[in-house]
Amino acid sequence: MKYQEIISHMKLGEKAELMSGKDTWRTKGFSEYGIPELFLSDGPHGLRKQAGASDHLGLNASIPATCFPTAATVANSWDEDLGEKIGEYLGEEAQALGVHIILGPGLNVKRNPLCGRNFEYFSEDPYLSGKMAAAYIRGIQKKGVGACPKHFAVNSQELRRMSNNSVVDERTLREIYLTGFEIAVKEGKPKAIMTSYNRINGVYANENPYLLQDILKKDWGFDGIVMSDWGGSNDHVEGVQSGSHLEMPSTGKMGACQIERAVKKKHLDENILDERVGEFLKTVFQISGEWKKTEMFDVEEHHQFARKAASESVVLLKNEDKLLPLRHGEKVAVIGEFADIPRYQGAGSSLVNTTMLDTILNSIEKSGLDLAAYAPGYTRKGNENGNLIKNAVKMAQNAGVVLVFAGLDENSESEGLDREHMRIPQKHTELIHAVSEVNENVIVALSAGAVVEMPWEDKVKAIVHGYLGGQAGASAMLDVLTGVVNPGGRLSESYPFFYEDVPSRRYYPGKEKTSEYREGLYVGYRYYDTVEKGVRYPFGYGLSYTTFAYADLEIKETGVSLVITNTGNQDGSDVVQMYIGLPGGEVFRPKKELKGFRKVFLKAGERRKIEIPFDDKAFRFLIHLLESGKQKQESI
Ligand code: BGC
Repeated sequence: MKYQEIISHMKLGEKAELMSGKDTWRTKGFSEYGIPELFLSDGPHGLRKQAGASDHLGLNASIPATCFPTAATVANSWDEDLGEKIGEYLGEEAQALGVHIILGPGLNVKRNPLCGRNFEYFSEDPYLSGKMAAAYIRGIQKKGVGACPKHFAVNSQELRRMSNNSVVDERTLREIYLTGFEIAVKEGKPKAIMTSYNRINGVYANENPYLLQDILKKDWGFDGIVMSDWGGSNDHVEGVQSGSHLEMPSTGKMGACQIERAVKKKHLDENILDERVGEFLKTVFQISGEWKKTEMFDVEEHHQFARKAASESVVLLKNEDKLLPLRHGEKVAVIGEFADIPRYQGAGSSLVNTTMLDTILNSIEKSGLDLAAYAPGYTRKGNENGNLIKNAVKMAQNAGVVLVFAGLDENSESEGLDREHMRIPQKHTELIHAVSEVNENVIVALSAGAVVEMPWEDKVKAIVHGYLGGQAGASAMLDVLTGVVNPGGRLSESYPFFYEDVPSRRYYPGKEKTSEYREGLYVGYRYYDTVEKGVRYPFGYGLSYTTFAYADLEIKETGVSLVITNTGNQDGSDVVQMYIGLPGGEVFRPKKELKGFRKVFLKAGERRKIEIPFDDKAFRFLIHLLESGKQKQESI
């Protein structure tokens, strides 16, 4: 039976039931009509399929799966091919674990460094976010599994996330908060999309006709399933009316009864319900037609790929006197509990139960480094760090090189909470200071899913940022420290000196009913560049063990081209970034904006011509014509 025909056979109550989940993770099926159930599962950097009791907060353990680096990490690779490959691996695991739709990737714009979920999102820049998200989506869907980018939209704080009202002007909405989703939808063609919990200018995302009909469906041509975030449906009659299909998780019979009653009372036109059911079924049949159950995935191969992904995403921030890479056989003192108990993923609904876990201590021997000493220096729990620091200092005194592992611990960043400040835990800072007093060759390896302050930067010779590298993050870090991998990561967010420099600091997070996006377009580097405010490390920054030269820049009607040469003596990669600005233009704009990029791998001495075309986003700005109420896109 074709789905149009099925609809004509279905009773009103049955159609209404399709618009709600069957339970926490499944959609409802009707075997009598041949409608299958779909299994949905987090998440963005590894499968979290719960075998036992279900919850959506990551409380109950899930079936082991590969924990890939989080989105914040992979964004630093600026490598769409890598993102697509991660998507394929995720898709393979979904097939093996019986999952039809992966709830990810997450691509909300990092409006402020303190958002507790920044580790799950790609960037402060919508173009980079959108391109990376589209790559993941393409990869996942190549395997016949549906992707579900989230959380649509303007969801940049965790505080009161289920009720907060994001108040944002039209141009900022379209240019900053929607452009990433636009790219993800148009270029990735996801089978589903998840709405956010919050309201946008007064209307809940899942019940927002402007967002779901005018923009998503009509402007961007989305034709998949719109689902609520878990518990994010407030009035599903409104939701269905406005373009949402599925409320998740199940609300028992409540949602269905409300829809049925609304149709009977003529508050909801049955034709609209039929339209939603038709759209829903079209995607359900598409997915169930393409999806195949496979045997267990290759755990070791996936782990090795997770390691590659993490190593390609490491950012070398500082490397004085070329202290890095470390030589084979170099005697190192390793300090910091993270070397033993790594920090490699975030907390909440994206928490993956790993298939295996590399740590610095269990991988260092294989890396060729000589572990001269280890001291924890701090522990996650307890305040007993006086002695721990003393011991660490003793080890550091006698070592040629000291590797300090520090960053944000599990309590510092998590879904559901925004961070209170931008510092790393005080005991990590004290440790770095104490160790750098007694040894001049200190390398800090950071694990953190978000921006941190580094007031100790000038005390240490080298800083390597691994972000949250997933289950193979430790061996990936060793690959970079020892030069097996030449660091190619470039920051996907700005590192201001201090939190006081952040444009939205005075009113973030919105603590009352509203969160006002008063900084408008001036998020991240768009602000720092425009007002010429110095930062510790800018967006797009990262060092390499080799050097690159750019020449022969040409600007044509269709795009730019240049010749890039690897002028050093090691193979390596760089990211060519194209920014566009219009000094003296009539319309106010940030000084420059990312409008294209290309990841380039070059052998030592190799040169290559790179072309970056202008696309429809290169020169556009988006304005709202109040008289007609219509959105208009203009370019100058
Ligand atoms: C999160 C989503 C997640 C869902 C299901 C929610 O709390 O916001 O990102 O996909 O739970 O676990």
